[in-house]
Amino acid sequence: MADLVDLRSDTVTRPTVGMREAMAAAEVGDDVYGEDPTVNALEAEVAALFGHEAALFAPSGSMANQIALQLLVRPGEELLCDADAHVVTYEIGAAAAYGGISSRTWPAVGADIDPEVVARMIRPDGYFAVPTRAIAVEQTHNRAGGGVIPLATLRELREVADEAGVALHCDGARIWHAHVADGVPLTEYGRLFDTLSVCLSKGLGAPVGSLVVGSADRIERARTIRKRMGGGMRQAGILAAAGRYALAHHVDRLAEDHARAARLAEAVAPFGVLATTVRTNLVPLDLTKHALDARALAAAAREEGVLISALGPRTARLVTHLGLDDDGVDHAATALTKVLSA
Ligand SMILES: Cc1ncc(COP(=O)(O)O)c(C=O)c1O
Repeated sequence: MADLVDLRSDTVTRPTVGMREAMAAAEVGDDVYGEDPTVNALEAEVAALFGHEAALFAPSGSMANQIALQLLVRPGEELLCDADAHVVTYEIGAAAAYGGISSRTWPAVGADIDPEVVARMIRPDGYFAVPTRAIAVEQTHNRAGGGVIPLATLRELREVADEAGVALHCDGARIWHAHVADGVPLTEYGRLFDTLSVCLSKGLGAPVGSLVVGSADRIERARTIRKRMGGGMRQAGILAAAGRYALAHHVDRLAEDHARAARLAEAVAPFGVLATTVRTNLVPLDLTKHALDARALAAAAREEGVLISALGPRTARLVTHLGLDDDGVDHAATALTKVLSA
């Protein structure tokens, strides 16, 4: 794959030389005993970034989300989220399978959430109703093409949650991208959510790792849930060092990924391919009006040395990331132009 321009996902990055050096030099201990200094430092650092009391390192974004949901919603209780949310689309039913959580969704609207719609969905306690305990949102929204939920919407959702006495969770796998795109401080996002899950292995380029962020009390319970799910790690400081390096070196540069995504969106626009809402590093391609379907486009792009994802019959996606430079974008733009105009 070395010569291919890989636009399938921002998870395809490889650790940089500096990151590998940081990993090799990491001080480690047994993290199940709470004795890995690098993990402890990462957890403290991420908690502080979001202005929360504590954070817990987890092996994946999915596990971090599921730990958070189990903290907020007990078996037989309800979670509300977008129909296209990662937690109900790509986590293989984990909320139900592991947490006994009942999920109900509002129609897929990506980042354009109407807090009043959400408010009307909330069900109170009652002996025959499923009580709503939490609302989850995704910042940025993966299936909605990296859309950024505006701060004003999040503030309204916080009010809705407070009024109803339910919790608010953020699947913040790419919250760094929202922070860079909208300039909203991470502490401001932190203030609005009871729990967040944040990923180091998407745009930030670490090989592994996510964190659950929340109050000290919740994170203490999260440690038990993580262990129960098989997520207790031993000398995980090697991985945490990559995450610390990523936080120090790879957040501000996300603006470059956003600019490259905008360039790709511009390149495909003349061919009737809708990529109009690009705000961050994801470029959704709506091929409804194009002769090629998503699979055919992906196959043709591959012939030209460009890998893209076919997400549905007429939906494809391009993703920019740390492993992509301007030459790669030029190559991809030329290749996609050729393929789409054929
Ligand atoms: C929005 C979002 N949340 C959670 C995840 C899950 O992360 P992981 O693949 O590390 O489980 C992803 C993965 O792409 C994602 O896009």
